[in-house]
Amino acid sequence: MSDTKVGVLFVCLGNICRSPTAEGVFRERASRAGMTSVLEIDSCGTGDWHIGKSPDPRAIAAAQRRNINIAQLRARQVVPEDFDRFHYVLAMDLQNLTDLRRMWLPEHRTEPRLFLDYAPNKAVREVPDPYFGGREGFENVLDLIEAASDGLLNAIRREHL
Ligand code: 4NP
Repeated sequence: MSDTKVGVLFVCLGNICRSPTAEGVFRERASRAGMTSVLEIDSCGTGDWHIGKSPDPRAIAAAQRRNINIAQLRARQVVPEDFDRFHYVLAMDLQNLTDLRRMWLPEHRTEPRLFLDYAPNKAVREVPDPYFGGREGFENVLDLIEAASDGLLNAIRREHL
């Protein structure tokens, strides 16, 4: 990543439901805010099962209902270098955060944290895994991600721009 850009990495388990959705939504919000050129946005998973795969068709459809296209994204697994490449390494749930912390070393730049730390509703800390549920789970994922995305953009403006 170039030093002139602010790096934002969204992390879930499989990188086929929540984190690609967050990548797509946040990219859209950043674009509307005119901030795309200063941001490097990516997503990944802590697990390796879905490497190279497209997002889950249910996640693609749910995002599309809000006019966001995530079909072109491909899953990758987190690597230790991500803690230096990105200024924000944002876990969707507490298990993702625990898994990231296990990889983290003191010489790394960025400590992982929960994405929903940036949401206005502090009572909800995690974006729940929608993989084994129904369509409403994917809508809930989008609602939570939308709410936290604007808070994250504001934090980036405050902390970096
Ligand atoms: P994600 O959802 O972490 O939001 O991408 C999941 C995708 C796949 C699995 C679990 C969660 N899985 O068990 O294969």
